[in-house]
Amino acid sequence: MAAMKRRDFMKTTAALGMGLPLLSLGGVAEAKERNVKPDHPVVVSSANGERAVKKAMEMLTKGADPLDAVIAGVNIVEADPNDITVGYGGLPNEEGVVQLDSSVMHGPTHNAGAVAALENIKHPSKVAKLVMERTDHVLLVGKGALKFAKAHGFKEENLLTERARKIWLYWKETLNPNDDWFPPPPEELDPEVRKIFQVHGTINCCAVDANGDLAGVTTTSGLFFKIPGRVGDSPIIGAGLYVDNAVGACGSTGRGEANLKNLSSFLVVEYMRQGLHPQDAIMKVCERIVEHTKLPYLLNKRGKPNFNVKFYAVNKKGEFAGGAIYESGSFWVYDKNGPREVPIKGLLKGS
Ligand code: GLY
Repeated sequence: MAAMKRRDFMKTTAALGMGLPLLSLGGVAEAKERNVKPDHPVVVSSANGERAVKKAMEMLTKGADPLDAVIAGVNIVEADPNDITVGYGGLPNEEGVVQLDSSVMHGPTHNAGAVAALENIKHPSKVAKLVMERTDHVLLVGKGALKFAKAHGFKEENLLTERARKIWLYWKETLNPNDDWFPPPPEELDPEVRKIFQVHGTINCCAVDANGDLAGVTTTSGLFFKIPGRVGDSPIIGAGLYVDNAVGACGSTGRGEANLKNLSSFLVVEYMRQGLHPQDAIMKVCERIVEHTKLPYLLNKRGKPNFNVKFYAVNKKGEFAGGAIYESGSFWVYDKNGPREVPIKGLLKGS
């Protein structure tokens, strides 16, 4: 064994059957679903995904692979300095450093790639796709992810825009009334800065093409002012994104920690595998998150979660849905009826 190279060892164990996948519990449903196709490609995305669904649909109608299509869609938002929740211009961690998370999953090959806490690279979703295609791994983090991106020719750039820096500085200056950082007098505060404090983001985009092949991507700058090194749900396959080509795709935005503890996107797809419509699958997962939220600091006065998590799902037939713990805003869909915003259904009233 000592002399055996790791890759040879893996080949040997696979040949002995040790590497064979266990029989899927959803095997029967998968066999039934294999020939299902939508009557038109369908793309779903979060509220910031208007340009993403349009770009992805343009590519799908030209016959692009669904993963290439959704990645090209979210790349527009990753490059946009005005979206402070994704890529360039995303809000930084508590030390003022932008750290990005992203994952991609390709239905036809059931392959996946991801990066977490990646600094100085504008398009983490492109790096995630290279992790999938050009390594034997699924997830690279931090310095290793950056080295890998640079090895593939990505150029380092400063992702902290002036706007994001000002918001971060205001956060730091108002964090502790007893420290030595003083916020500006209210009349000098940029009104944009206060407004921006109320925004949450991340972008997810999932698609099914005309052949019934599925793919998805999630990309984010993560929780605002997070502890350096904090990794959310977006780069964790099963948490912030999951795709099963026999069933459907699901991605999420919102409080990542809830998805990490419930493997929520995987669970949405599993409920769809059992025959649930994407809307019902999402609502069952929201129920699960509510049931599992027990820590007092995460509960409001009514004993319900004091945070929100949103899901976007599409199945192999092209049925789609957006849902959340609390009804809030809308998501984007592009199907045979064109691109449009659709309200997100909530499990609970209030917020
Ligand atoms: N859902 C994005 C994050 O928590 O980082």
